[in-house]
Amino acid sequence: TAPKIIALAGSLRKDSFNQKLINEAARFALESGAEVEVIKLSDLDLPLFDEDIEAQGTPAGAQLLKDKLRAADGILLASPEYNGSITAPLKNAIDWASRTEQGAVPAFRNKVTALYASSPGGLGGLRGLNHVRDILSGIGSLVLADQLAVPAIHTKLDEQGRISDADTAEQVASLAQQLVSVASKLNK
Ligand code: FNR
Repeated sequence: TAPKIIALAGSLRKDSFNQKLINEAARFALESGAEVEVIKLSDLDLPLFDEDIEAQGTPAGAQLLKDKLRAADGILLASPEYNGSITAPLKNAIDWASRTEQGAVPAFRNKVTALYASSPGGLGGLRGLNHVRDILSGIGSLVLADQLAVPAIHTKLDEQGRISDADTAEQVASLAQQLVSVASKLNK
């Protein structure tokens, strides 16, 4: 069967560059034969993590995210960089999804993850990816050694949000294909 891939970006912004980037990665993964679902964090009911809220019951958005991650083989993740690190919305989503019910499998465990970042700046959000990698590895995700940080992203997307720069498109596709290839092995 086709490997199942979840694609998400760590921004809540309507015109998020990282959302556009991961939409493109998702399209390439689909073309490589995967079953792909794009999840937008801004569509989910994900309050700021609070153990008091959790004690009253897991919010619907957090449960949905957890269930979808558990059912997936791989994750395409685009992380914007805020002050050299992970964004609060992404960390919040990871914290919610990391919580396990009694006897349940941790949501990120043994999921292969491909990391992307993009920024209007010159490093493309590369510094933040170190932190994202560390967090995800720590909760059992198999983070691909290869990753992609796209600098000057605002010059590389067209009006439809498609990548207009050929080299960038090739790099985005190549990492997505690698993820699909590893995810299909896990899926066996
Ligand atoms: C930024 N930005 C930014 N960019 C970068 O390359 N390195 C950084 O450390 C930071 N730091 C930072 C902090 C905060 C609080 C904000 C709001 C922004 C700029 C950032 O890359 C830019 O706003 C992107 O457009 C954010 O990604 P999305 O929302 O377009 O996906």
